[in-house]
Amino acid sequence: MTEEKLLNGKSLADKLNAKLKEDISIAYQHTGIKPRLAAILVGDNPASKIYVNIKRKTCEQIGIDFTLITLDENVTREKLFNEIDKLNNNETINGIILQLPIPNHLRDNSMQFVDRISPIKDVDGLHPYNQGKLFNYDEEFAPATPKGIISLLEYYNIDLQGKEVIIINRSNLVGKPLIFMFLKRNATITVCHTSTINIVNHIKRADILVVAVGQPKFITKDKIKKGAIIIDVGTNKVDGKLCGDVDFNGVIEKCSKITPSPGGIGPLTVSFLCHNTFHVFKKQLKLS
Ligand SMILES: NC(=O)c1ccc[n+]([C@@H]2O[C@H](COP(=O)([O-])OP(=O)(O)OC[C@H]3O[C@@H](n4cnc5c(N)ncnc54)[C@H](OP(=O)(O)O)[C@@H]3O)[C@@H](O)[C@H]2O)c1
Repeated sequence: MTEEKLLNGKSLADKLNAKLKEDISIAYQHTGIKPRLAAILVGDNPASKIYVNIKRKTCEQIGIDFTLITLDENVTREKLFNEIDKLNNNETINGIILQLPIPNHLRDNSMQFVDRISPIKDVDGLHPYNQGKLFNYDEEFAPATPKGIISLLEYYNIDLQGKEVIIINRSNLVGKPLIFMFLKRNATITVCHTSTINIVNHIKRADILVVAVGQPKFITKDKIKKGAIIIDVGTNKVDGKLCGDVDFNGVIEKCSKITPSPGGIGPLTVSFLCHNTFHVFKKQLKLS
């Protein structure tokens, strides 16, 4: 029974990556150029290092060159701006990501750094220009995680029209872009966060529940509606093992569909980062 309830993000990501690899190879035959993604990693955050490494590996498997700029934990604001400017001006770099979070002494300014990335190279979709496009339902530069979530729901032919969607997250990378992407598909959306009163009352209404809080077993069987579709975005480590925000074994009988974690949204996020990179590459080279 578990198998038929799974929204298998890993399997979809593998399919999408195989097709993308083919498309990149064809573009390379025509241009002799490969797309290149640059990642800026500031400091020694171990989780950030792991995420950047996963991105690098997937890019290289697909045929995207990867440049990693590592900066010292104590880097100055000016130096970080300068590195971003260099990448903006480097024609061989098509996409740029700044791995978040950045160290505390820069964190007050973290959006200023993201804003400094040229919108045409902003493959994380965090520049205000690209966020504004999303406001008008233009998903060209939508962030990778929400793109992964929507593509998975669409792949499994899950109708969103009129559905009650509860999103527990209001970050720029996950919750906020999803508002517009679900609205575009005529769902009814509620966004919950740490100040939400009686959050369980909201969760219980969800036909589709998206949870990205970063707390293991945040969602348990008693909190969900029977037949709910659950998208577990959370990434946590318990006793050295990765898990999401949902008590998977507890909810599996009661829900109608669920993403595993790991193996759900994570692989799709990396896949759509690669798709975004190929997209900006084609745009910059004026390829169709
Ligand atoms: N699988 C993937 O590809 C992927 C991609 C992105 C993120 N993630 C994971 O998703 C999680 C969130 O990531 P993020 O970058 O969006 O983090 P974030 O910026 O810290 O956002 C967490 C969100 O959860 C809300 N929240 C936290 N505790 C809550 C609680 N007890 N009740 C209600 N709401 C609560 C926060 O509310 P406030 O706004 O009020 O603080 C915030 O909106 C992390 O586990 C991250 O690793 C996974």
